[in-house]
Amino acid sequence: MIVHKNQVVTLGQFIIERQADFPYAKGELSRLLRDIGIASKIVNREVNKAGLVDILGEAGEINIQGENVKKLDVFANEQFISALTSGGECCAVGSEENEHVVDINSLVSKNAKYVVAIDPLDGSSNIDVNVSIGTIFSIYRRTSLSGPGTLQDFMQRGTEQVAAGYVIYGSSTMLVYTTGRGVNGFTLDPSIGEFCLSHPNMKIPKEGNIYSINEGNYVHFPDGIKKYIKYCQEDHKPSNRPYSSRYIGSLVADFHRNLIKGGIFIYPATAKSPKGKLRLLYECNPIAFIIEQAGGKASNGFKRILEIEPKDLHQRTPLIIGSLQMVEKAEDFMLKFSPAEVQV
Ligand code: AHG
Ligand code: MN
Ligand code: MN
Repeated sequence: MIVHKNQVVTLGQFIIERQADFPYAKGELSRLLRDIGIASKIVNREVNKAGLVDILGEAGEINIQGENVKKLDVFANEQFISALTSGGECCAVGSEENEHVVDINSLVSKNAKYVVAIDPLDGSSNIDVNVSIGTIFSIYRRTSLSGPGTLQDFMQRGTEQVAAGYVIYGSSTMLVYTTGRGVNGFTLDPSIGEFCLSHPNMKIPKEGNIYSINEGNYVHFPDGIKKYIKYCQEDHKPSNRPYSSRYIGSLVADFHRNLIKGGIFIYPATAKSPKGKLRLLYECNPIAFIIEQAGGKASNGFKRILEIEPKDLHQRTPLIIGSLQMVEKAEDFMLKFSPAEVQV
């Protein structure tokens, strides 16, 4: 816990203090980040008692991704949309749980400056087994001039994000975000119901010895990834190999571990997901913004994630993300052994 002049720095205080960094800011982005913080505290409360109340298991619906939707996904989606609606700073939401852009059509927010792309509940397959799950969000300035937000407002490269972050509902609940001036982590102190600055100016080690990938898909991986996995498994003490294999199955949890300890996370193209499984707008872009701000790297194997031109709200992309030197090494293998996969 970071103590400023003998006091804990809450997320709210930190956002306001940092607002001074933005000469043009009149507090809208600060209030938007506050709204996201509020919704994540409500989701956290439900996650912590998921085993007790009837929000476990399949909600019986199938979302646009064709996946069974668990009740907590629906609950989390509703909480974030409701907080963004009443906060008045966001005019539209692009959510994993909604096929189309959700127009935040409230009196105060229809001319709001920002749009939010969100994965309200990441790691759904882990909800029922008490493994860490999360929320991932990405904030853009709208490109349309006024009125309801449009799909076009979301068709912006990741480099245009004004803020991005995630919440991890784990052994503790943390909110980690960036506005382009470094990465800061806040831990929820349940005794006061506040996110408190606990990880200032987060940086990912340039090198790590953890690789994170679902090796169950090995036979369908591009040759470059197959070769990189074998490289990770080689016995070569001077370069700390073999690396350790760690795969939680919640992107936020795998990403957060690597951000703190160093490491690489890879979700390549597979037979089942020829374009990759992870979604560009509300999974890959926000964590790519964070990792670059923390001194790491994020690519699709050939191209910087943040420079991929979005064409669809739920567009997928292969993802290689983590410690700079590990991502560069994986990219070398992709270039050498899978050149034909060069992405558009
Ligand atoms: P979501 O629960 O939002 O659909 O995300 C699940 C994603 C991501 O969290 C994780 O890294 C990946 O799916 C795991 O996929 P596999 O089970 O195919 O390995
Ligand atoms: Mn997800
Ligand atoms: Mn999700």
